Amino acid sequence: MRPFIHVNCAMSADGKIAGVDRTQVRISSEEDMVRVKALRKKYDAILVGVGTIIADDPHLTVKGLDYNSNPVRIVIDPRGRTPDDALVLNEAAPTIIVTTEGCRKDFDCEETIVTGKTIDLARLLEELAEDIGIESILIEGGGETIASFFREGLVDRYSVYVGGLIIGGRESPTPVDGEGWISGGGIKLKLDSAEVLGDGAVLTYTPLHGDSKDKGA
Ligand SMILES: NC(=O)c1ccc[n+]([C@@H]2O[C@H](COP(=O)([O-])OP(=O)(O)OC[C@H]3O[C@@H](n4cnc5c(N)ncnc54)[C@H](OP(=O)(O)O)[C@@H]3O)[C@@H](O)[C@H]2O)c1
Repeated sequence: MRPFIHVNCAMSADGKIAGVDRTQVRISSEEDMVRVKALRKKYDAILVGVGTIIADDPHLTVKGLDYNSNPVRIVIDPRGRTPDDALVLNEAAPTIIVTTEGCRKDFDCEETIVTGKTIDLARLLEELAEDIGIESILIEGGGETIASFFREGLVDRYSVYVGGLIIGGRESPTPVDGEGWISGGGIKLKLDSAEVLGDGAVLTYTPLHGDSKDKGA
C-alpha cells in the first residue's frame, strides 16, 4: 500500500517552470494561488526535491494553519544539501528529510528517513504509509523529482497551471526533466479537466501507467 501521488506545478506558456538560471519566476495567477492553497490542505504531505529548496527556499505550508494542521513537509535530499537555515526546517510544520546511507549531515527536523545507498522511492512510499500513516502526497517539484516519480510509474494525478507568459531558454527547467528516458514513446495521459484561472488555465490529467488509485484527496 502506498500513498496517492498528485504532482502539481506551474509552467509558462512555453513549458518552463523557472528561469534559465533556475531562479523562481512568478507563473501562477492569484486565482491559481488560491487553488494551490486549497489543494495543499487536502494532502497529508507536500514533497519537493532539494533543488527546489536551494533555488526557491519555500515554506511549503498553508497560511493560517498551525504546526499540527499543516501537511507534513518531505524533502528528498540524498547528499545533505538542505541549508541549515532553510525555511522548510522552521517550526511551522513537521518536516521529514529523505536521504541515503552515505549522507553524514544531521538534519534539524522531526524525522530523517534513510532508504539505502540510493533513494528508493517505492520503499520510501511504503514506509511513509505504513509507519507514519501518510495516505496522500502532493509533489510540487522540481523537474528532476517529478521525473523520478513518473519514471517509476508512481504518479496518480498530474495537474499543471499554464500561465500567461513566455520564459524561454533551452536550459530552463521544465515540469519533467531527468535524462530523457520517456522520449521514445512518452507516458500517455487522460485529460480529466481544463479550467481557465485568471491569465492561464489548469489542466488535470490521469497518467495511464502504474497502479493508479481510485481514492484521491
Ligand atoms: N513552477 C513550479 O511549479 C516550480 C515548482 C518547484 C520548483 N520549481 C523550479 O524548479 C527548479 C528546481 O528543480 P530541480 O529539478 O533542479 O530540483 P528538484 O527536483 O527540486 O531537486 C532535484 C534534486 O533532488 C534530489 N532528488 C530528487 N528526487 C530524487 C530521486 N528520486 N533520487 C535521487 N535524488 C533525488 C537530487 O539531489 P542531489 O542532486 O543532491 O543528488 C536532485 O538533484 C528551480 O528552478 C525551481 O524554481 C518550479
